[in-house]
Amino acid sequence: MHFKSVTALLATAAVGINAQERSTGLLGDAKVVTSNPVGVMYEAVLPETAFTKGSAYADGGNAKGVVSAVAGPDGTGVVFKVKFSNLPKEGGPFKYHLHVAPVPADGNCTATLAHLDPFLRGETPGCNSSAPATCEVGDLSGKYGEVKSDPFEATYTDLFASTQEGLGAFFGNRSLVFHYANKTRISCANFVRKHAPNNTADCTTTSGYNKPTPTPSGTASATGGINPSKTTSPPQYTAGAATVGVGMVGFMAAAAAALL
Ligand SMILES: *[C@@H]1O[C@H](CO)[C@@H](O)[C@H](O)[C@H]1NC(C)=O
Ligand SMILES: *[C@@H]1O[C@H](CO)[C@@H](O)[C@H](O)[C@H]1NC(C)=O
Ligand SMILES: *[C@@H]1O[C@H](CO)[C@@H](O)[C@H](O)[C@H]1NC(C)=O
Ligand SMILES: *[C@@H]1O[C@H](CO)[C@@H](O)[C@H](O)[C@H]1NC(C)=O
Repeated sequence: MHFKSVTALLATAAVGINAQERSTGLLGDAKVVTSNPVGVMYEAVLPETAFTKGSAYADGGNAKGVVSAVAGPDGTGVVFKVKFSNLPKEGGPFKYHLHVAPVPADGNCTATLAHLDPFLRGETPGCNSSAPATCEVGDLSGKYGEVKSDPFEATYTDLFASTQEGLGAFFGNRSLVFHYANKTRISCANFVRKHAPNNTADCTTTSGYNKPTPTPSGTASATGGINPSKTTSPPQYTAGAATVGVGMVGFMAAAAAALL
């Protein structure tokens, strides 16, 4: 609506003062998102073959990488689980970001364009990880740390990226890009909507959270959590009976909001 034309104007202004460095967005700090749909999960998995083969993957292959994301328990923020391995021996520490455009069918990582940056901050100066609201929303390694080990694993909650369709910070229709320290793009993958963790409402159909089907409480497993074969110690995803209740309240609230 109006927001789009305002954004376009501000984007034009941003080009004008490009040389000037800001330490937060032209539209201010990133906003905390509290409306992420509970039970909706997105996952990006790097493909078998690297986009930039370089010397690391000259004979084929790629870094392995999986980034999954679900709403925080009450819909506030997004819990990211990040795993990378089989990394190049040189060229690190590696960076990874949410990029604004999806990867086309030909796998061209350049076509994912820039970082997800709805508050129009730009890449420079670099992210101050002590003040994540001032960083580009998509700059995950800037906010939570670069990839300095192989294998690498991290779990954290980001308050600014969103799994709520319609918001500028929504990344479910966008991509993950894995970079060398010099920003060369090693590989990229699209986020794909997955089956929800079984402890929360399953919203995997496109109209899922518009027509809530009460989930019998018996379907929530005792341990909760997402597919145990794909995860190690996921306390953030684990919901005992107590948090299932909270999850359902959040789910019903989201469903109610969606009907407005
Ligand atoms: C970036 O670093 C990688 C690994 O060291 C190297 O293969 C690549 O050529 C570099 N890219 C540029 C643009 O310098
Ligand atoms: C990859 O995408 C970029 C940006 O859209 C484009 O300039 C480039 O030509 C594409 N490369 C190939 C091989 O299609
Ligand atoms: C980073 O953010 C912290 C917290 O707001 C602040 O104290 C510090 O001065 C910032 N550092 C830089 C280099 O701006
Ligand atoms: C992704 O979704 C956001 C929010 O709904 C929308 O503004 C954006 O245009 C979409 N991007 C693509 C590439 O579909």
